[in-house]
Amino acid sequence: MPPEIRVTFLKSDDPLLSEVERLFQQMYDDQRGQGLLLHPPPDASGRWLAGIRGALGRLGCLVGAMEGDRLVGFLHAGLHVIPEFLGGGLAGRISHVFLSPGSRRRGVGRRMVEAAVEWLRARGADTVEVQVLSQNLSGLAFWEALGWKVELYQMRKPLRKTGGVEREETVRRPEEGPAGLQDVADVRRDEASPSEQGIRAPAR
Ligand SMILES: CC(C)(COP(=O)(O)OP(=O)(O)OC[C@H]1O[C@@H](n2cnc3c(N)ncnc32)[C@H](O)[C@@H]1OP(=O)(O)O)[C@@H](O)C(=O)NCCC(=O)NCCS
Repeated sequence: MPPEIRVTFLKSDDPLLSEVERLFQQMYDDQRGQGLLLHPPPDASGRWLAGIRGALGRLGCLVGAMEGDRLVGFLHAGLHVIPEFLGGGLAGRISHVFLSPGSRRRGVGRRMVEAAVEWLRARGADTVEVQVLSQNLSGLAFWEALGWKVELYQMRKPLRKTGGVEREETVRRPEEGPAGLQDVADVRRDEASPSEQGIRAPAR
């Protein structure tokens, strides 16, 4: 019999977070063939973790799947406000769920989702959503088996040669304030073809 897998919540100072980072990277490596049109940077996992860490336990939760003392899977979920024009209230969003291939089809994904959904429900969520890459057919089968319904198709049109959205990291002096439309237009114009270079964004 395969060893038992335990599902548990991870805190923001849990030493296992470095393992979550490793699995996150593995997940994005898998997603390359599943329809993702964006290009995550090489340090995507570290950036993602830094972004969610502060809200863990309040606006978000991280569920871990443990085989003995080894982390074999994780799920992250968060809460957000539904706009008034869509009825208002709170929604949960499962942003990522991943299990190492050797630990799949043993009901662990289902248990991680159930734990997260209960966490979200207890904090006032009325509904919960997840995005699935268009070619992740086993992912779609998983959500459908759990009773989730398809609601939305997300479309994307690449606007540059790279085919997706790259980070625009420009060094800004404090007196310049936050980057605005004009700055983005300037970056794009530098890369645009001569015929496109006359196009400017509206002035601030
Ligand atoms: C999706 C994932 C988390 C599912 O975890 P899991 O532990 O293997 O799933 P479970 O064992 O709880 O499966 C529950 C049910 O979902 C369905 N299901 C799960 N994986 C499936 C697959 N590959 N193909 C078809 N149906 C599947 C089955 O009906 C299954 O019940 P059954 O095993 O009794 O038939 C896991 O496969 C994974 O990490 N995949 C890669 C990352 C990913 O795609 N994440 C989802 C992104 S939105």
